[in-house]
Amino acid sequence: MPKLNILIAASEVVPFAKTGGLADVAGALPKALRALGHDVRIVMPRYYIVDREKYGLELMDGELGVPMGVMGEMWAGVYEGRLPSTEVPIYFIDHEGYFGRSGLYDDNGEGFRDNDNRFIFFSRSVMQLAKKLQFHPDVIHANDWHTSAIPMMLNTIYAYDPAFAHTGSLLTIHNLQHQGKFYKGVMDILGIGWDHFYELEEHGGVNLLKGGITHADAISTVSSKYAQEIRTQEFGWGLEGLIDINSYKLHGILNGVDYEEWSPAVDTLIPHTFDSDDMSGKGLCKSALQQTFNVPQRAEIPLIGLVGRLVEQKGIELIATSIHRLLELDIQIVMLGAGEKWAEHYFSDIARMYPDKFGCFIGYRNDLAHQIEAGSDLFLMPSLFEPCGLNQIYSLRYGTLPIVRATGGLDDTIENYHNDGEHGTGFKFYDATPDALINTVGWAVHTWYNDRDGFVQMQRNAMSQRYDWNGAAREYESLYRRIVHGRKGE
Ligand code: ADP
Ligand code: GLC
Repeated sequence: MPKLNILIAASEVVPFAKTGGLADVAGALPKALRALGHDVRIVMPRYYIVDREKYGLELMDGELGVPMGVMGEMWAGVYEGRLPSTEVPIYFIDHEGYFGRSGLYDDNGEGFRDNDNRFIFFSRSVMQLAKKLQFHPDVIHANDWHTSAIPMMLNTIYAYDPAFAHTGSLLTIHNLQHQGKFYKGVMDILGIGWDHFYELEEHGGVNLLKGGITHADAISTVSSKYAQEIRTQEFGWGLEGLIDINSYKLHGILNGVDYEEWSPAVDTLIPHTFDSDDMSGKGLCKSALQQTFNVPQRAEIPLIGLVGRLVEQKGIELIATSIHRLLELDIQIVMLGAGEKWAEHYFSDIARMYPDKFGCFIGYRNDLAHQIEAGSDLFLMPSLFEPCGLNQIYSLRYGTLPIVRATGGLDDTIENYHNDGEHGTGFKFYDATPDALINTVGWAVHTWYNDRDGFVQMQRNAMSQRYDWNGAAREYESLYRRIVHGRKGE
């Protein structure tokens, strides 16, 4: 099979800039594709926080001209680097006015007012860069609304450009909640022509994700369950009809995880390593974690971890309304997260009210995320929706049994406890209600105290699961080939 030229455009990539799982995916998938022999390259914005010196980024010669419709031609610098410990090239679009500020998408929760221009500029830069590099992609792989303009541009502005004569597009939806909705004047900057307005029109404005879904040769989501869910009103955020019509080109490919980063036997960020043959290190990690959060160092009490963005999606309201009843159980909970201000204050107050039972760190800390995965016995993830979710997959590897709501990737990756002492990797509930959450935590805690053999067996089951990137990359590879094949058959 011939190798493919793949250009991946993403608004965040590990380790350069990250707010959530998209960055993990955009940093790991290219590595796995490269290992399969493809020429894969990545483009992302050069945010202020991208550390040029640390990663040895070099400024390429010459500026990139980026047409911005009625705003005229603008200019971008381009830095070039490599994904750490790989040969995968990554390019950074540099524009002081658009990206030289703290925050990727917002400042303290307030979305930047020029996010439309910022990401249209970025999308157009990706196209212009491919031309400048004379890199002729077989597929441009766009991700979420930020780069949804790319499939539209490919089919319009660049439709007859020989540089893209054989280029198809894939749009991966990591989270349908965010769609890039702006006023219609954006059409004058996007440059695809007003005759295409209806393809991205919504309530008189533009919806970039809508346009991307319409124009991409294929669309994908990050789990099969989520691919089904987004065709329904409950999960479609108003786009369910459009997605349903386009379901012939919709695919679900579950994310992998990077086990070089997230394995208890090799993790350099946890105080004691361990594996399923010798779990003694896990007990030591637990005790260290209890010390970090200043709760009593008790080995026999079940410790429940929580890591994530404190936003509605993650079920934080459910946790908030259940927390007093949960803390009546003989358990400890440790939480790491940042997000909505009310939640940050609320959970900090809970920590002050229950100093022996609840520990909370508000902020973003990768090392602490690893330590929570390693030191906890259970991991709580009661999301209202979850396109894939990575933390529950990390938890499995660390023998930390996930308690999840059965939605999206959570449902696809966790096998429910069977009460037969043999099966199961976690505990699931279905209704997004405090009662369902509390009952299921209660059930997990009961198992911990009364069926220790069953609990240990589940830990073994969990630790033997593998969601590596090699498998996911092969699925993307065959999807890319379908796209190429489909384009040729036009
Ligand atoms: P989402 O992308 O919706 O936030 P995922 O589960 O896919 O959810 O990915 C979240 C990623 O971000 C994980 O790698 C997780 O460890 C990390 N993360 C989230 N919040 C924090 C935080 N406060 N500190 C450190 N890491 C965090
Ligand atoms: C999104 C989703 C999350 C998914 C991640 C990576 O942020 O919320 O479920 O794991 O993207 O695909």
